[in-house]
Amino acid sequence: MGKIWAGRTDGTVNKIADDFNSSISFDSRMYKEDITGSMAHAAMLGAKNIISEADADLIIDGLSGILSDLESGKLKIDFSAEDIHTFVEQTLTDRIGQAGKKLHTARSRNDQVALDLRLYLKNEADEVQKRLKELTAAVCEKANEYKSAVMPGYTHLQRAQPVTFGHHLMAYAMMLLRDIDRINDAKKRLLISPIGSCALAGTTYDTDRFFEAEKLGICEVSQNSIDGVSDRDFCVELCSALSLVMAHLSRFSEEIVLWSSWEFKFIELSDDFTTGSSIMPQKKNPDMAELVRGKTGRVYGDLIALLTMLKGLPLAYNKDMQEDKESIFDAFDTVKACLDVFAGMVNGITANTDNMLRAAKGGFINATDLADYLTKKGMPFREAYKLSGRIVSNCIKSGKTLDELSIDEYKEFSNAFESDLYEAIDLNTCVNSRNSFGGTCVTSVEKQIEYVENKIKK
Ligand code: ARG
Repeated sequence: MGKIWAGRTDGTVNKIADDFNSSISFDSRMYKEDITGSMAHAAMLGAKNIISEADADLIIDGLSGILSDLESGKLKIDFSAEDIHTFVEQTLTDRIGQAGKKLHTARSRNDQVALDLRLYLKNEADEVQKRLKELTAAVCEKANEYKSAVMPGYTHLQRAQPVTFGHHLMAYAMMLLRDIDRINDAKKRLLISPIGSCALAGTTYDTDRFFEAEKLGICEVSQNSIDGVSDRDFCVELCSALSLVMAHLSRFSEEIVLWSSWEFKFIELSDDFTTGSSIMPQKKNPDMAELVRGKTGRVYGDLIALLTMLKGLPLAYNKDMQEDKESIFDAFDTVKACLDVFAGMVNGITANTDNMLRAAKGGFINATDLADYLTKKGMPFREAYKLSGRIVSNCIKSGKTLDELSIDEYKEFSNAFESDLYEAIDLNTCVNSRNSFGGTCVTSVEKQIEYVENKIKK
């Protein structure tokens, strides 16, 4: 395709430079947004008598024909065009002649690309939120299944206190809920229309930017035309929200990898979400979780690329900004793929509750409860803590667990111990007496599930 901007030069560009400059290989995915944006622009030009209503109608019909032909496959994108904006405009003029040449009145590719990108990312953000909700629902379902399965809770990856697997899973549900909310927040600043900013300074035509925005279902119009074409904060904000999604998925992945190892054996992944080894016949590898963990770096990279691209750019549009698209598209593609595979992987988790309980019994994770028992009998907590520590140390030496010490042995440490202590340090008691708001007891986990499920229904 020839250059729409041929004039000052004859539009011949060195082949290597032309390929380097071209963005159609990645911006063609915005064809629909480009066309609907152009339709709104043509309608405004007609309504404001900047072009005739007849020309506006011709343009709109022509554009809608291009859209349906692209969707049906009748029209193929010509990758020799510079970008999607020039492809659509040139195809329109090829099809309807003179009227097509009027579409670009009171418009620049600078406001066009900013608009297309906002519209495109709005749909992408919706898609990610939909997937986040599906994953959150899957996590809630698993949490409900295992709301009373006792496992060790960890700090420093050392056994700390007993929790339920359901409680642990619901921690991830809360992260995912914040992710959904964070994208909602970014959307507030995404849905602002830059169209009509033109190249940078606004226009001498009597345009109506609010009319165009309204046609596109956008309530807000950018207040400053230079900012309108220069702003890419929305890409950074969305990519930052996506980076946090990946941070959460990556932490979850890491735990799935650990839990499914022979060392932990807390969970079994379904066969269809694991792979084998080409040489070691015994292997069942958690590749999906590892790949999600690995792809996290990619999305962080996209965020850094966007921030670095913007740093030090003078106002207004600079060609550097063409680099925004590959980064933000890659971030969305990656997150969507990760969320899809994650929901399936979570659905297929089977907990090995016996192993979880065995691990919970082994690590003195009821030592806090032993100290709390003494505290409730009147001993100051710090003293009870010290004494419990001594008892644990003694148990380690004699190879016993806390529930294996006899009451006489306990009494040697303190007369405050009575036979009700065994009930107090029983793991189920430990879990179910942690009934503070947000705690690990079964009813608290049930409340958390209800809370999250209500939020994602909205
Ligand atoms: N392909 C360009 C981009 O993605 C469109 C805007 C071109 N504007 C310009 N003044 N060359 O950023």
